[in-house]
Amino acid sequence: MKVVAGNSSPILAKRIAERLGCELAKTTYKVFPDGELYVRIENIDRDVVIVQSINSNNDLVYLMLMFDALEGANVTAVIPYMGYARQDKKFEEGEAISIRAIANLIESYAEKVVTVNIHSESAKRYFKNIVDVDAMPLIGEYYKGRDVVMISPDLGSYNRVKIASNYAGCEFDYLEKVRIDAETVEIKPKSLDLKGRDVVIVDDIISTGGTIVEATKVLKNCGVESVECACVHAVLAGNALNRLYSAGIGRVVATDTVEKPVSVISVADAIVLALRS
Ligand code: R5P
Repeated sequence: MKVVAGNSSPILAKRIAERLGCELAKTTYKVFPDGELYVRIENIDRDVVIVQSINSNNDLVYLMLMFDALEGANVTAVIPYMGYARQDKKFEEGEAISIRAIANLIESYAEKVVTVNIHSESAKRYFKNIVDVDAMPLIGEYYKGRDVVMISPDLGSYNRVKIASNYAGCEFDYLEKVRIDAETVEIKPKSLDLKGRDVVIVDDIISTGGTIVEATKVLKNCGVESVECACVHAVLAGNALNRLYSAGIGRVVATDTVEKPVSVISVADAIVLALRS
């Protein structure tokens, strides 16, 4: 078996290959002057594991070309960050269900798909054979032994943060929107008094950083001592990291599903377990 490192996931692919005791296939990725992409994969075996996050449109095109280059092989697709999963239904008439299109494309080539914390259960339902690895226990373990409170920025991430806090052995809460009157909405922690506490805001994705910045403002108004944030997928679009640090966030922690300088937690062991299941 060979592991094929996609252009977007070279570090995680190497970690997975080492744990599986496999070699990496030889890959060439190029961009032509007009922006078109090129892929060549050499030394493949009958069974291959592709590791390629979809964090840009180029990542997606590279993935398609990788599948084509692997014609004839038995392919398992590890897509650590499954982009396009937030468009998991028609919010307005006439819209594409983007994740359905992506699922159909991937499963027309791959026999099995492994991903990490896909954005929603409804996104997962468009795949026939997918394993969704949960990285929240890893984020929890990372904070184990520290006197922190984990905060979900909204009700949507409540269950994820509950899991992370169980592994960390710390308290958790979520920020609740309370309507005061027709014009005023107040956002505040649901139950805990956070004055003087060190808090970690936990979410699945940090994209523009807007959600975390807004949550940080609320927490600072509550008199917290410090704010860090942790996520699975550090998409960090544009100047998101600057935005987070300028908002007073002391540290940003993420997994290596999207490879960024803040990716200090590896999902490699968890992915290898899923590959062997
Ligand atoms: C929302 O449903 C997700 O869980 C994240 O909160 C969201 O994608 C974060 O996006 P941004 O960083 O752009 O606020």
